[in-house]
Amino acid sequence: MNQDELKRAVGQAAVDYIKPHLDDDSIIGVGTGSTANCFIDALAGIKHLFDGAVASSEASAERLRGHGIPVYDLNGVDGIEFYIDGADEINDQLDMIKGGGAALTREKIVAAVARKFICVADESKVVPMLGNFPLPVEVIPMARSHVARELVKLGGDPVWREGVITDNGGQILDVHNMKIQSPMALESEINQITGVITNGLFALRGADVLLLGTQDGVKTQTR
Ligand code: 5RP
Repeated sequence: MNQDELKRAVGQAAVDYIKPHLDDDSIIGVGTGSTANCFIDALAGIKHLFDGAVASSEASAERLRGHGIPVYDLNGVDGIEFYIDGADEINDQLDMIKGGGAALTREKIVAAVARKFICVADESKVVPMLGNFPLPVEVIPMARSHVARELVKLGGDPVWREGVITDNGGQILDVHNMKIQSPMALESEINQITGVITNGLFALRGADVLLLGTQDGVKTQTR
């Protein structure tokens, strides 16, 4: 199977995973990116089994609506049982780097509300140590240079993702060359820099379940 087929397989596996737990009131948290898109497309097949979704980006909201799935404002929902999203990197503790699609802040917010975070990924995303993928950090625009200098002090090489404005009006610094030995500690430390909206480490709230697309089928790992 090629990478696209693996993504479609995990998108369908996530639908199969959540399906027995859904009812008419269920609201599903939906992530962003090409793997999350495969999940959205598979979810359309069971849209009669749940109420609607909360999306982590305008792009995902549009795709959900395109399938006729109602999209709710997070402030208007009482709770979310499942959040399903991809990752740029994931380790064996199910800590992740996310934000390749610049949706990290909304992803982190929806994940914080959800009772269970299901990561859907193909096997290329599994790493022994996070940090080969540049770590996205979303910043308030006027703080960009200040945050970049602080990230250099932490040992990284931040690069401004020019031309990208997030759904929240933020800008993105991609931090190269970070060897992330303690993902939770680094997640907290970067979030303490004034001007940071959030960073793409998902360790304090990592995934609870990984559905991993491999050549031997979809494998399930729990935290
Ligand atoms: C977007 C994300 C995505 O989940 C991440 O970039 C993975 O994307 P893809 O499934 O396209 O590889 O964090 O901000």
